[in-house]
Amino acid sequence: MKKSDFLEPPCCSFCGKPQENVRKLVSSPSSEAFICDNCIEICREICTDNNEPERVERIKVPTPLEIKASLDDYIIGQENAKRAMAVAVYNHYKRVNYNLVRSVRNRKVELDKSNILLIGPTGVGKTLIAKTLARMLKVPFACVDATTLTEAGYVGEDVESVLSKLLRAADGDVMRAETGIIYIDEVDKIAKKADGRTFTRDVSGEGVQQALLKMLEGTVVQVPQGAKRFPGQETVSIDTSNILFICGGAFVRLKEIVEKRKNVHSLGFGSNMAKKVEENHEYRYIENVEPADLIDFGLIPEFIGRLPVVIGLEPLDQKSMINILTTPKNNLIDQFKTIFKLDGIELKFDTDALAAIADKAAALNIGARGLRTIMEEIMLDAMFTCPSEQNLERVTITADCVKNNAKPHLQYKKAEKIANI
Ligand SMILES: Nc1ncnc2c1ncn2[C@@H]1O[C@H](COP(=O)(O)OP(=O)(O)OP(=O)(O)O)[C@@H](O)[C@H]1O
Ligand SMILES: [Mg+2]
Repeated sequence: MKKSDFLEPPCCSFCGKPQENVRKLVSSPSSEAFICDNCIEICREICTDNNEPERVERIKVPTPLEIKASLDDYIIGQENAKRAMAVAVYNHYKRVNYNLVRSVRNRKVELDKSNILLIGPTGVGKTLIAKTLARMLKVPFACVDATTLTEAGYVGEDVESVLSKLLRAADGDVMRAETGIIYIDEVDKIAKKADGRTFTRDVSGEGVQQALLKMLEGTVVQVPQGAKRFPGQETVSIDTSNILFICGGAFVRLKEIVEKRKNVHSLGFGSNMAKKVEENHEYRYIENVEPADLIDFGLIPEFIGRLPVVIGLEPLDQKSMINILTTPKNNLIDQFKTIFKLDGIELKFDTDALAAIADKAAALNIGARGLRTIMEEIMLDAMFTCPSEQNLERVTITADCVKNNAKPHLQYKKAEKIANI
């Protein structure tokens, strides 16, 4: 009798199943150990799951409350927008982490992405919110102007250039770039022309919207590694499915469109709904924006469909304008005070002077950007003369300086104090 006749039939060394109960049994080179096809599959999944979190860096996501609190340090007012952005960004990165860590096989539910559309007048904090978020989350951030983009093949930057920018912001690290934030400003300027009947191609409007579609949704794009494209250049693949796209624009005509629709639909012809809603202090047209209004504005339905989160920003009132002047980190008043301090002069602003600056800036209709314009204007005289004044201790800006171009109040050091020095 041969020795092998006494041997048991080979079994899987992991699960113990005999050969006849499995599809395949693989033996080790020494034939001392075996593994069945089922255990191979389980091992493969364990390996993928264990390796991925090490390879892919998970993004530490603060809670929506924490995100909002950080935004509060830099952005004044815009409470609704900050809350909505905090939730949207939190969900986005939770989704990114979920998708990164789970292997494709284990993923029971695929979480789709929700890009964001910010609508609000100029200079009220759209870009600032996006930038602050990226800095806070420590993810790469790129900001582009939609008006500089054209369809591929036409003069101008093609939409893929946005990804090159993001890659540079990530110091060439593709994996970091793939979880970054891209802010596309002025998307309202790429709306279709009003009548839509053009015989030439609309390369900078509808054409750009078309070109952006795939990228917004999630696709793999070949991106040149350098700043400019040239033939034969090395490219890298960037998957945009985990990149958060935030689009922003002022959408000036949108209010009219919403009001017109509401006017016609809710109260019939000849009604004065538009005026009534205007009088109602609580009315915010932004809450009533529907996709149809954006289509009316000139965005194509596919483009709107890829920006499911619509967030509105409000015009800034006087109180917010004063707060912007004085409270955020690096605020304008502190900046001017520092400029004067470098010459040993204390700069003071009367409370009503701040209110007057806010009012004057608001009248420019360029949002908070008006504050710098007005500040530069009223401070010019003082900045010109004060550095050559002897023994000047304090400069006080009064409301009269702001409203009527009166001279600031100057206070000099007392004689005995000077003698001490
Ligand atoms: N809510 C705000 N809180 C604090 N600062 C603000 C706020 N809004 C605007 N600012 C100031 O105004 C500047 C311009 O704002 P921002 O770039 O965010 O405007 P925007 O809404 O993007 O306008 P645009 O539509 O013209 O691009 C900011 O850099 C910031 O200094
Ligand atoms: Mg902007």
